[in-house]
Amino acid sequence: MELLRDPDIARDYVKKLQASGESVAVVPTMGALHEGHLSLVRIAKERFGRAITTIFVNPTQFAPHEDLDKYPRTLEQDLEKLRGIDTDAVFVPDVNTMYPAGCTTSIFPPDVANVLEGEFRPEHFGGVCTIVLKLFQCLPCDAAIFGRKDYQQWRVIEAMVEDLNLPIQIVAGEIIRDPDGLAMSSRNRYLSETDRLKAVAIPRSLQELRADIEVGVRDVGELQFRLSNRLRGVPLGSDDRISGGVVIESSQRQSESAGQPGVDTIDYAVIVDSKTLQPITRLNQPAVALVAARVGSTRLIDNLLIDPKF
Ligand code: PAJ
Repeated sequence: MELLRDPDIARDYVKKLQASGESVAVVPTMGALHEGHLSLVRIAKERFGRAITTIFVNPTQFAPHEDLDKYPRTLEQDLEKLRGIDTDAVFVPDVNTMYPAGCTTSIFPPDVANVLEGEFRPEHFGGVCTIVLKLFQCLPCDAAIFGRKDYQQWRVIEAMVEDLNLPIQIVAGEIIRDPDGLAMSSRNRYLSETDRLKAVAIPRSLQELRADIEVGVRDVGELQFRLSNRLRGVPLGSDDRISGGVVIESSQRQSESAGQPGVDTIDYAVIVDSKTLQPITRLNQPAVALVAARVGSTRLIDNLLIDPKF
């Protein structure tokens, strides 16, 4: 596996492979790799023949109060994992290479970045778009693979690629979960044992949402009401109806019993159009349920893609 640190050498590496008729796919990551990341590298390798992973903890996508300094950095273990799955190369630039002194240009992200995560983390997608475009410049690959775990990020990148006519194919990989259903995330390591039990409410509520849809519930207000109650560990049938029922902002958890599934705070729990992420009222088009919630000091996101044929 090649370890690339310099953008010019990285670009040459990709161009040489392409000149000899090969296709190359890139998997951008911030490291602390887990099976979710590795699944994307496998997609890159299987579908395109050559796979390059990038590892870079991007400072511009973290707000000052977020966990940039605390973000796990485990380069040696990451390289070991990548060697184990036949990655061709890994690009690990340092921060001064990606953001030299005086570098002030940034990307103004597409509309789909303004809602949901964009409301809770206003600078986030600008930072993501800027670094992803810079990584694409360093590694002019045929394709890039993103996880559906970060659903809105995937849609934002797709829109940026379309808006800026970037010559790269964007491919999405499915969400990889732990046996208890929790979507794998570098931030799961911050969860205590009790937090983890509480956090399981997230995948469970999404599965119960799926079951509701399968038995024919189509009213989005009703589905969102059930989803947010289940997330908070409130038994269905309680008269705790949320007025308006669309975005539930930071509703405090009702049941505080330790060890029971149920998150502490919900940032949002919505069902929206699967591409624009705009609100809908009935399920008669492709939709997605998007959840962001906090357990202790850890913020978790998850989602369920909803096929209207469910
Ligand atoms: P990071 O959080 O490291 O995630 C890198 C990629 O792995 C993203 O595309 C993410 O959606 C995917 N991923 C994470 N957990 C996953 C899971 N459980 N199943 C499937 N895919 C999963 O996302 C970022 O880094 C950054 O914002 C980045 C795009 C690298 C820009 O800095």
